[in-house]
Amino acid sequence: MPDRVLITTDDLEQAVRVNAALEQARFDTAMVSSLDDVRQAVRGRESGAGSREPDAIVLTGGLHETTAQRLLAAAREHAVSTLGLVESTDDPNEVGRELGLTGWLIKPADPAEVTATVRRLIERRRLQQRTGILGESAAIQEVLVKIEQIAPVTSTVLIEGESGTGKELVARAMHDLSPRRGKAFIAVNCAALPETLLESELFGHEKGAFTGAAERRLGRFELANGGTILLDEVGEMPASTQVKLLRVLEDRSFFRVGGTQPIQVDVRVTAATNKSLKESVALGRFRDDLFYRLNVLSVYLPPLRERRSDIPLLVRTFIAEFAKTHDRNFRGITPEALQILVDADWPGNVRQLKNLIESMVVLAPEGEIRASDIPPDIRERTRSLPVRIPAPVRPESGAGSQELEFIFRTLVDLKMQLQDLRQRIEERPAERVEVIEVGGGSEIDPLDPSPEAPGPVIYKPGMTMSDVERAAIDAALRETHGNRRKAAEILGIGERTLYRKLKEFALS
Ligand SMILES: Nc1ncnc2c1ncn2[C@@H]1O[C@H](COP(=O)(O)OP(=O)(O)OP(=O)(O)O)[C@@H](O)[C@H]1O
Ligand SMILES: [Mg+2]
Repeated sequence: MPDRVLITTDDLEQAVRVNAALEQARFDTAMVSSLDDVRQAVRGRESGAGSREPDAIVLTGGLHETTAQRLLAAAREHAVSTLGLVESTDDPNEVGRELGLTGWLIKPADPAEVTATVRRLIERRRLQQRTGILGESAAIQEVLVKIEQIAPVTSTVLIEGESGTGKELVARAMHDLSPRRGKAFIAVNCAALPETLLESELFGHEKGAFTGAAERRLGRFELANGGTILLDEVGEMPASTQVKLLRVLEDRSFFRVGGTQPIQVDVRVTAATNKSLKESVALGRFRDDLFYRLNVLSVYLPPLRERRSDIPLLVRTFIAEFAKTHDRNFRGITPEALQILVDADWPGNVRQLKNLIESMVVLAPEGEIRASDIPPDIRERTRSLPVRIPAPVRPESGAGSQELEFIFRTLVDLKMQLQDLRQRIEERPAERVEVIEVGGGSEIDPLDPSPEAPGPVIYKPGMTMSDVERAAIDAALRETHGNRRKAAEILGIGERTLYRKLKEFALS
C-alpha cells in the first residue's frame, strides 16, 4: 500500500504543485481544505479526506493560526509526521521548533525537495515503530538522526541521560539497526556487582582462578563476540576494572581472571550513565583516558520534563499497549487527567510514566483514566524547579485576547511555582540550595557562561516577577553553556521570545 500524505490547501498554488510531485512519486495523496477535515483524518475517522490515517501531512501555510497549532498537536499525539512550508520572512528553524513540526522547508519549496523530505520523515517514523522509541519532539528527532548515523559503525558510544530516559532502549536500537543485529546484545550493570565478581562477569575466569571457580566460565565480552555489549552505569565501575576496560577498548583483548592467554574479541561497546561522567572525571572517580575512549560518539537523552510535548503520545501508546496486555476494555484518558500528566515532574522519566500508566490501566475502575485515579504524589509534583514558563501562543502578535490569556496563565503558573518553592524550602531546610543572585549583583554573562554547575533557580524575598524570569533565563543559559535554542527549550518558550527577553533584560 502506498504511503498516504495529506496536503493542506492554505497556499493553493504550492499545494497543487506538491500534490502533483507526490503523486508522481507514487504517494497516495489528498488535498484537504478544511483543517477539521485534516484533524478527522489524523484520527483515522471517516471524513472527506478519506478514512486511512495519514503517514505524513504537508502544511502549505497558515502555520501561525491556532487551528494549525491544534492540528499539529493532534498529529504529534498520533505520531503522524508533519512538514511545514514556512514563509521566507520567518526564521524556519525557530518556527519549526516553536510549532513542533517534524520537518520544515522555506517557501517557495521545490516540489522535488518536498517529496524527498516527506520520504525521509516517513522513513524516520518507520524507524521509530521498529525501535519503539516514541516522541515527535525535536530532542527525540535529533536522537533518531544520531542513531541512524551511529548504528552502522563500530565506534564506542556513550549514552547519557537521567534514569528511565531510554538509554537501554537506544543502545538496543543501535544494535538492531547495525550489521551486528543477528548476534548477541548483552547488557551488564556495572553498579550491581562487587569488584571481583564484576571482573569475572565481564572477562570470565579459568577453572580454579579463585575459591568457588570450579569451572571455566566465559565472560560477557566473549559471549557478546560479533555483537554489542552495553556497560550500564559505567560511572560506577571500580578503578581496577576501569584499567582493564581501557585495554579492551584499546586493542579488543583481555585475560580471563586467572588466565594467561589474551582473548581477542570483536565487540561493539556501548556505555550508559545517568550521572555526568565528566563530573566523575573531575572528582577523580573516573579515569579521564577511559572517558575519552568511551565518549568517541555520544547520545544525550533529555529528561521527560524537558520534552513535555511527547507526553500525550507516550500516554496514549502506553494505554493502548497495557489495555491489550491486561485484556482490559479501556476507553482512554480524560483531558483533565492528561493535563496533570503533562505537567508532572517525572523524576523517573519515561519508566515512571510507563509504570504509572500500567497501574492505572489495571486499577482505574471506570475503564478510563480520570484525574482522581492519579496518585496524589504525581498530582502534587507538577511544575516544580526550575521555573518553567508555558509555551506562548503567538506572543509576537498584537495584544489580542490570546496574548492576554497567555500572560494571565503565565502569571498564575509562576505564582504557583513560587508557592511551591517556598513550601519546599520550608519543608527541607537542611537540603543545600544554591541561590543565584539577581539584579545588581549578577555577574552572569550569557555569552561567556561559566562551566560551573549552576544551582536551581530560587526565589528570594524582594524579587519581582521579572527578576525571577531573568534568573531562570540566566540559569538555563548557564546550564546549556550559552546555547539559546536549548535554553529556550528548557524554559518552554520559543527562541524568539527568549531573544526578546534577553534584549529586555539587557542580557544580550
Ligand atoms: N522514547 C521512548 N519511547 C518509548 N518508550 C520509552 C522511551 N524511553 C524510554 N522508554 C521506556 O521506558 C522504560 C525505561 O527505559 P530504559 O530502561 O531504556 O531507561 P534507562 O535510561 O536505561 O534507565 P536507567 O538509567 O534507570 O537504567 C523502558 O520500558 C523503555 O521501553
Ligand atoms: Mg538502563
